[in-house]
Amino acid sequence: VQADMDPSKLTIKLADKLKAIPEPETLVFGQVMTDHMLVMNFDAESGWSAPVIQPYQPLQLDPASSCFQYCTNVFEGMKAYVGPDGEPRLFRPELNMARLQTSVGRVALPPINPEALLVLLKKLVSIEKRWIPKLPGYSLYIRPTVIGTRAALGVAASTSSMLYVILCPTGPYFPSGVSGISLLAESESVRSWPGGTGGYKLGLNYAPCFAPQRIAAKLGYMQILWLLGEDRRITEAGAMNFFVVVKRDDGDLDVLTPPLDGTILPGITRASVLALCEAHSPATPLPGLSPDLKLHIHERTITMPEVVQLHQSGRLTEAFCVGTAVIVAGVSRIGFEGKEVKFSMGSDNQQYVTAALANRLEAIQEGRFEWQGWS
Ligand code: COI
Repeated sequence: VQADMDPSKLTIKLADKLKAIPEPETLVFGQVMTDHMLVMNFDAESGWSAPVIQPYQPLQLDPASSCFQYCTNVFEGMKAYVGPDGEPRLFRPELNMARLQTSVGRVALPPINPEALLVLLKKLVSIEKRWIPKLPGYSLYIRPTVIGTRAALGVAASTSSMLYVILCPTGPYFPSGVSGISLLAESESVRSWPGGTGGYKLGLNYAPCFAPQRIAAKLGYMQILWLLGEDRRITEAGAMNFFVVVKRDDGDLDVLTPPLDGTILPGITRASVLALCEAHSPATPLPGLSPDLKLHIHERTITMPEVVQLHQSGRLTEAFCVGTAVIVAGVSRIGFEGKEVKFSMGSDNQQYVTAALANRLEAIQEGRFEWQGWS
């Protein structure tokens, strides 16, 4: 019988010397790691090793390891916030655990135990509590990672793996002072395709985006709006899910986002934004929005030509990007075929629905607003 991940077998080796924590305002996303990491190894004979929380340190791996050669690299992104009670809180972490399970399955890595991993991850976060910045908009980013460690070049599934969790304190993902995200709509390179892996959180989805991203940056755009197919349908924006807001004839608003057809990452922020839009009503209004306004959500194909046409008709009022790292961020302009779709930005560089969702979500995450046990 293989051993399962077992929190009762956890050993904790604390670092002799703790690092100095940088001032939150100086943080750049993902650059400073905390003092400790969680590690577990899996092999086919014995299953999962006893979990260890140990000082943050380099890994020692065989150069032939599956993760280096055949990209068996899977990860998650989540955040811990300090609540008003001073206690750390996670945002819908069971959804990250479930997604991690589908991701490891997609590249035939051994399954994890989602419940056990969450217990262990909470323990790590509680040990690293002093690293969670207390400023609004700041948090501790959590990066659970699973890699294939089979040390052989035969093209086959990795029968062994390592799971580790590392943490870094973080503030706003994009440098402050930018007035909304600028996007370059791109159809020459594609991020994902039907039957591909775009719906899973795999490292191999990200690497092919870096070269096109450089070109976009040279042209003055912050991120790429990834298109797919002859109809140039929108998939994602950078590494974020994408939304638009459209004025309806009856005065309500449509909130549109591409459907989870396998080409789009099933974002937890995406799902949360959809739920918050649906719940907007006189009983539970979003901040700053008229309670009588209805937000009609649609998970459906949006093409770039449609975005241009909605913009020309004056009905396209907002576009925004969502993700764990960025939370909710407004789009200021989209470059497409030499032209630009421009959005006028309001206060805080956000527009109404974008700002309402960002405010509510951050309040829920930081424990200032109680909503459905999400935090
Ligand atoms: C997110 O958290 O929104 C992302 O997917 C970006 C992450 C890879 C840094």
